[in-house]
Amino acid sequence: MTQKDKTNTAILISGTGSNMEALIKAAQNPDYPAKISLVISNRPKAKGVETARKLGIKVEVIDHKSFETREAFDQTLTNCLEAHNIELVCNAGFMRLLTKEFVTHWHNRQLNIHPSLLPAFKGLNTHERALQADVKITGCTVHFVRNDMDSGPIIAQAAIPILPNDTALTLKQRVLEVEHQLYPEALKLVASGNIRVVNENALISKTYEAAAPLFSLPLSR
Ligand code: GAR
Repeated sequence: MTQKDKTNTAILISGTGSNMEALIKAAQNPDYPAKISLVISNRPKAKGVETARKLGIKVEVIDHKSFETREAFDQTLTNCLEAHNIELVCNAGFMRLLTKEFVTHWHNRQLNIHPSLLPAFKGLNTHERALQADVKITGCTVHFVRNDMDSGPIIAQAAIPILPNDTALTLKQRVLEVEHQLYPEALKLVASGNIRVVNENALISKTYEAAAPLFSLPLSR
């Protein structure tokens, strides 16, 4: 696949950027249908900024604190994304609520990953709440972004069992491991044109064979 056939993709981060790193590394495969050409962080000191630079990806820091309104911040994000001809946006631990205008502008072109089996446990402290609720299975979800937080058509999910000795920390680490497998697969599906949104459902093309493992990811590599 030539560089110009690939979907031009940006990643938005606020912190560690381990999902970002998984996406960048997956996209290094010459056959991967997306090209990661930009990372934007809203926090200047996010660890992911350094990681992305080391991996040779262009990074822009747009510090939300230097904007008076959410609208002004989001408009600057869109301007930056458009200046780089971005077609798809992947939120990867991007911890800012986005305005309706931004979400509408990037409709079906913006993905998010959340560390639960949505619609369960939207928002923060996901793993603590999963443990408190005593659910036996948790996991992660990649979805298209809509106005309500952590909602939108579900592209892919992966499940893992909650083990008797799990703490919020062990659970977070085990869910992150599957996030790093799921997000690259989900971006691949979208970037290769194998997802269509119909009546707010994300439908996977029947011919896309690689979709099957998304629902039963192995616990470890
Ligand atoms: C990930 O677990 C991601 O699912 C979560 O933040 C973490 C970021 O880690 N996102 C959300 O909770 C969004 N609602 P990372 O920076 O190492 O990718």
